[in-house]
This record gives sequence, structure tokens and C-alpha cells, in this order.
Amino acid sequence: MPQAPDALLPAPELSAPIGPGNVRREGHSKVTGNALYSVEYQPDQIGATEPILYGAAVLSTIARGRIAAIDTKNAQAMPGVRLVLTADNVPRQSPWGPLNAPVRFARSQPVFFDRTVRYFGEPVAFVVADTFENATAAADLVSVRYEPLDASIVLKESGGINPAPLHGGKSADSRTGNFDEAFAQSPHQIDVRYDTPYQNHAAMELQGSLAHWKDGKLTVYAPAQIPDAMQEGLAATFGLPKDRVRVVARLIGGGFGGKLPYFSDSVACAIASRILKQPVKFSFTRQQMFTATTHRPAVLHHVRIGVGADGHIHALAHDVVSQTASFDNYLDGDTMGAKGLYRADAIQTTQRIARLDLPRSDSMRSPGDASGTLALESGIDEAARLCGLDPVEFRLRNDTQINPSTGQPFSSRHLAECLRQGAEKFGWSTRRKRREGEWLIGYGVAAAMRDNMLRPSSAEVTLAPDGVLVARLAMTDPGTGSITVLSQIASEAMGIPLDRVTVLIGDTDFPPTAGSGGSFGAESAGSALYEACVALRGALQSKAEVAAGTHLHFADGALIAGDRRYPLGRLVGAAGLTVQGHTAPGMEAKRYAEATFGAHFVEVAVNAVTGEMRCRRMLGAFAAGRILNARTARSQALGGMIWGLSSALIEGNVVDPRGQFVMRDLANYHVPIMADVGAIDVMLLPEIEPVANPIGIKGIGEVGINGAGAAIANAIFDACGVRVRSFPITLDKLL
Ligand code: MOS
Repeated sequence: MPQAPDALLPAPELSAPIGPGNVRREGHSKVTGNALYSVEYQPDQIGATEPILYGAAVLSTIARGRIAAIDTKNAQAMPGVRLVLTADNVPRQSPWGPLNAPVRFARSQPVFFDRTVRYFGEPVAFVVADTFENATAAADLVSVRYEPLDASIVLKESGGINPAPLHGGKSADSRTGNFDEAFAQSPHQIDVRYDTPYQNHAAMELQGSLAHWKDGKLTVYAPAQIPDAMQEGLAATFGLPKDRVRVVARLIGGGFGGKLPYFSDSVACAIASRILKQPVKFSFTRQQMFTATTHRPAVLHHVRIGVGADGHIHALAHDVVSQTASFDNYLDGDTMGAKGLYRADAIQTTQRIARLDLPRSDSMRSPGDASGTLALESGIDEAARLCGLDPVEFRLRNDTQINPSTGQPFSSRHLAECLRQGAEKFGWSTRRKRREGEWLIGYGVAAAMRDNMLRPSSAEVTLAPDGVLVARLAMTDPGTGSITVLSQIASEAMGIPLDRVTVLIGDTDFPPTAGSGGSFGAESAGSALYEACVALRGALQSKAEVAAGTHLHFADGALIAGDRRYPLGRLVGAAGLTVQGHTAPGMEAKRYAEATFGAHFVEVAVNAVTGEMRCRRMLGAFAAGRILNARTARSQALGGMIWGLSSALIEGNVVDPRGQFVMRDLANYHVPIMADVGAIDVMLLPEIEPVANPIGIKGIGEVGINGAGAAIANAIFDACGVRVRSFPITLDKLL
């Protein structure tokens, strides 16, 4: 009798990465310019016989109102113009939404379906021509007459509504214990308001699409973080069965949540391509990206912390109002930190949304937590100082192994170890707040947490007679290293050398996955691929007909049974062997709270004369389960931390009185450059996640940003004694 496949699987090494830092498998093609992104495909690469046409978009110039008339005569008379798509001639599509759809990114999203203008910079017309230049020139000649209405564009605490009715009645609020009572009885009280700004997506690759109809089937090449959601959304928009829509997203030049939704570029290209019977491609310009895609909403935070004489948090409240578009329901889960970071007798969180006449807000790296922890972890620092406690000690004293809002034990939580080991490496206990000439030197710390989520995913593996393994799954790689870590998982599980493993992703023709987002990508797709490998091992073992009790393992492309060696390729026969694997959250997801934890330590210098702020040193210590690849994991952590720095000191957009984002290019929308960063280091603590998934990992893509900005804000206060509660902390606010 063959052994159960499970018995074959080596327990993952608890601390060792699978790959000690394998470089990204697609990296060479990217840095040599050979990598193909969605709008770069040529006709022969998409199986088209006709030339590709080019689109250009016209965006609204009012924040709210009606389109009285669109004059396209002049545009249509321009050379090479083939189509001008507006509300006057757009084919029928399904209505927008629904708002309470189970998957927000799979909603129907029609373009130009009415004459209402909902925000400044909303696409109102789409010009298609034979060349990019002709389309762009013609788009300038589309003339739109608007009837403007008063727009509501200012985020106010009083403007928030309870989003529950827009989310099928599901409340985002939480309440444990009696906050008011516990707060009133606390000898130390912090009651402060913070605000965090709009941030815009500015990934290297712009949002764009290439659409092609062939034999009644639509294929869209687009940088979709979740191809399956986009496929469902496009199918819904056009009233097509899902199998008549294919989404291809082989490479993505940066996602960060900005490519979780799909956008009007895909829909407009698909419509135009169907009408014109030619492939159509279009990319928003950098300037258009700032309104025609999504952004991180501005958030108003009210943080209250009541602490007992013993330094224990008795009461914690985080009440937020965040912006959403007038026609949307996006909720920026800003209160997750308050719900799970610290033990407290009473915790209250409320989340309200303000529906404003601004572009759609949606996910941006660690959506909610990134803004939420800027406020919360600043407030925790204020509370520690009020009690006269070291901020590391204060956090340790209020650490917990039980999620205080749900009562579930954490499946693995090493926040205390992150704080202790990070402090040790950083030299926290020997830090010396001081003045060096004009510069005031200060230190800050903050905790980081990001929920861990496994999402249903599938994968398929094919073992060929030559012993090469090919995995197929509709996962994506927005630069995170998905292709690399998936290859490593398959290589390890099968004992097949990495160079004999190929992972094909980014195509809805492959088994569906949750895609990349919410730090769930590697865990969900990786677990599905692992399960496929487990199934393949079982099938191979049956073929080898190994006697019961024989010691088995897979190594060097072979099944080793006792002293016999079966090369895998020979076991599968001439046809090869294909099997599928699937993963979905099980009972453990109900029994345990799951999250990745970390701690940030920062040294800043503040110029006492000019107010200039410099981050000199940053250290992030993270416990994120088993690390699949030390190099890509570190890169994720570094990127998150630098974004945290950006959020603390540099980044944020403002809305002008017309309702337009003021900064709309990379000259004005500032993000950190190397000189802003200083010395930066990442520690990855040895940890194995015991229950969340079969591969012992946890999400690491987003946790790095959480708390990083607050550690900087806390260091600035430490240096100069000024607490700025409005982010980013630009020097005008400091002086
Ligand atoms: Mo992430 S902001 O969920 O792609």
C-alpha cells in the first residue's frame, strides 16, 4: 500500500528561507528592457492580423454636474481618427456595481453610460486613431460643454456616514468592554486628532490596456493584480459569459493596490476594438493617472487612550472618517491596528465614510493599516510619554497573545521579540537624544501589524517526460517576486532543481487564484501550488508502486525509494502528467487570529534653525512566518518602510477648490529619493506559521509600511518636542 502523500513532505526548515535569496527570475528581462508589458504587445504577439489602433482619453474639467453637449466634429475630422466614443454613441453596458458585490474588483464598470460628471478628471470621451499622435491630437479637439453643480470636496468629521447599509448591512465598527467608562476612570488620558492625506498611485507602469476580439472572444492585456476579478468584471459589464473574456497580465510594473480594480481603459478599449474589429490599445498619461485611477483616501482620526497607573491600557478608541467617491462605498479599514495590537479592557472603533465629489478611493499598500497606524502608533507614543514609560516597554507591557477584539488566540505573534531584538540591534537602550550643532537628534519606535489572509486559489502542474515541471496559475507578479517564490515552492516540494521548473502566471486561461493583493498573494497562490505538488507526488508514488514502509523522498528530479531511484520524467510516460491543487481557508481561520508583526526603530535629525528633517537610520524587525526568499522579502520590507517614511515626511496630495488633485506628475508628487532614506536595515526573525497554510508563511508585502511613518513622527517629537498630528510632517508645520 502506498504511503499517504503527506508522509513524504519534509517539514519546512523553521528558520531557513527556501531560497537563500534567489534573484527574481524575470529580473534580467526587466532590467534589459526585454520584458513585455500589457500595452507593448505587437500584433503577432497577440495573434492579430490587423494593425493595433491607439486610444486617447478626454477627462472632465468640473467636479460635479452634467454634460450638456459634446462636440466631436473637429476631432472626427482629424487625420487617422476612427472613432470618438462618448455618452452619445456608447453601446449599452450593464449598470455600475453593485456596491455590495462580494468581490469589489469584479463589479461591472461601464464607461460613458450617462451624462453625469462625478469628479474632476473623470473620463468623458475616448478617441481612437491609427497612431498615438493622431489620437492624442484629436482628443484635444473634443469640446465638452458642462452644466456644473456645487461639489462637495472637503473631508469633514461631521460629513461621515455609517457605511454599513452600503456593505449589505455589515458594520465595520467594533466594541469590546465599556470604552466611555474605562476611559473616564483612567488616570492618564490621551484624546487627540490626527489627519492623513490623499496619496496617489504612481507606479512605474501606467494604467493601460490592449483589447482584442477574435471569434467572439475578448482578450484584454492589462496590468491586473487579480486577473480573475477583472475577467468577471468585464464579463459582467458586457453581459458575456466568463469564458468569452480572457485577461492576460504576464508582468506588472508595480501594483500597490492601484491595479486591484480594473479601469475605464480596459472597458473603452474593449468597446472600441469590438466596433472597429481591430485591436485597440491605450494608456492613461501620468497626469491622467492621478484622477482616472484610484487613490488612498484622506482620513480623519480621533484617537483616545486611557492608561492606568500601572501602565496598562484600559481604554482604546480609534474613530475614523475616510473619503470615498460619491457613487462608491470604499472603506479604508483604518482601525485594524486598534482592534488587534494591544490588550485593553475596552476597545472601541468606528469607521465612517464621507462620500465626496472626488475620484474613487481604493486600496493602496496596506490599505487602512498604513494610515491607521500613522495615527494609532503616534497616539501610543503620546500615551507612553504621558505615563513616563519607555515606548518599547509600554508596548511590551500591553502586548497580548489574544486578539482583544475577537477573543481568538493569534496563530503566531512575535511582536515582543520584534521589539526586543530590534531594540537590541538598533541600540535603543544606549540611544542618546542630543544636539549636534544645529541638529537635534531624536529616536522613535512603533509597532507594525498586518492581518494575514488566505484566499481560495488553484494551480495546475504538468510534469513532462523530460522531467521539466511547468506550473500554471492565474497569479500575478507586480514586481514582488511571485514568479520566483512560486518556482522555489514547486522546486522544493518536488525535489526538482529550480532550473527545471517553469511557472506561468497572469492568464485567466489558467486555474484561478486570488491574485496579488492584501499580502495574501504568495500565501494563497503558493499554497495552491504546494497542494498541486502534493497531488503530483501522490500520483508519482502510485506509478512507482513502492512497497509499504519503504523510505521515500523526492530529490534531484527523482523519487528515491530505499535504494531505488525513479527519475520523475520516466514515471509519467510519454504523455506527461497534469494535476491540480486547491487551497481555501479552513476551520483554523475561524479559530485563530492571524497577522504578521513587526517593530520599527528610527533615528532622525531635525534642524533647529530651518526645521529640515532627516531620517538618519531606520531598522525594521519583522516576524512574518517562514521566509520564502530572503532577498525578495527584504525588498518588500524595505519598500514598505520607505513608503512609511514618505507618508511621514513627504507624500500627500491636496485638492484645489475645483476638486482637482493639485499634484499630477512625478515632478510635483514627491516621493523619497535615495538621499531621503539614510541607513535602512531589515531583520527577519525566525518564525514558522503553524496553522494558516501548509507552507508555514505569512504575508510580508505590506507590513513594512505599517508603523514606519509613526516611528519617524515619534522620533521627530523626541528630537524637538513638537508633535505634528497632520501628515505629512512638512517643515512649515514644525516651525
Ligand atoms: Mo494591496 S494595497 O491590497 O495590492
